[in-house]
Amino acid sequence: MTYDFRIEAADKPTMYRDLASALQGLVAGEPDAIANMANASALIFETLPDVNWVGFYRNIGGELVVGPFQGRPACIRMSFDEGVCGAAAKSRQVQRVEDVHQFPGHIACDSASNSEIVVPLIRDGEVLAVLDIDSPKKARFTAEDEAGCIALGEILSRVL
Ligand code: SME
Repeated sequence: MTYDFRIEAADKPTMYRDLASALQGLVAGEPDAIANMANASALIFETLPDVNWVGFYRNIGGELVVGPFQGRPACIRMSFDEGVCGAAAKSRQVQRVEDVHQFPGHIACDSASNSEIVVPLIRDGEVLAVLDIDSPKKARFTAEDEAGCIALGEILSRVL
C-alpha cells in the first residue's frame, strides 16, 4: 500500500484542513501510539514548508522524553521546567515562539532553529506528550498555524 499525501492548498486554513484529514486517515484504527507518532511526524514534516524538526516528547513519569520525530538528532530528556516543550507541558498551553533565542531556557538542539510551536497533547486531564515543530525562519508560525496545529493535536491526543 502506498500513501500519497502531497497537500497543496491555496491558503493555510485549507492546508491545515487537508493535513488534519490526512492525519485522521493515517491514524484511524491503529492503537499503537509509537506507530501513530512516527507517521504523524513524517506527514507533518513532509507537508509544512520551512520546518527543520517535527516530533514528540512523551511524558514519562513527569519527564519529557524524545519520541518519534523527523529532523536532526535531538536532546533526549527535558524536565517540565526546561525549554519551550517544558513550558507547554507545565502550562498546558500552546507555546508559539517567534524567536527561540529570546525564550528564557530554550534548549537549542539544532542551531538552525529560530522559531517554534509546541502543542500539549492532553487526554483525560493528563499531559501525554507534546508536539514540537521547529523552523529555521523567525516568526514562522502565525495564529493560523496555531489553530491548525491545535486541530492536529486534538486528533493526536485521541490516538496516543
Ligand atoms: N527547542 C526545544 C528543544 C527540543 S528541540 O528543538 C527538538 C525546546 O526548547 O523545548
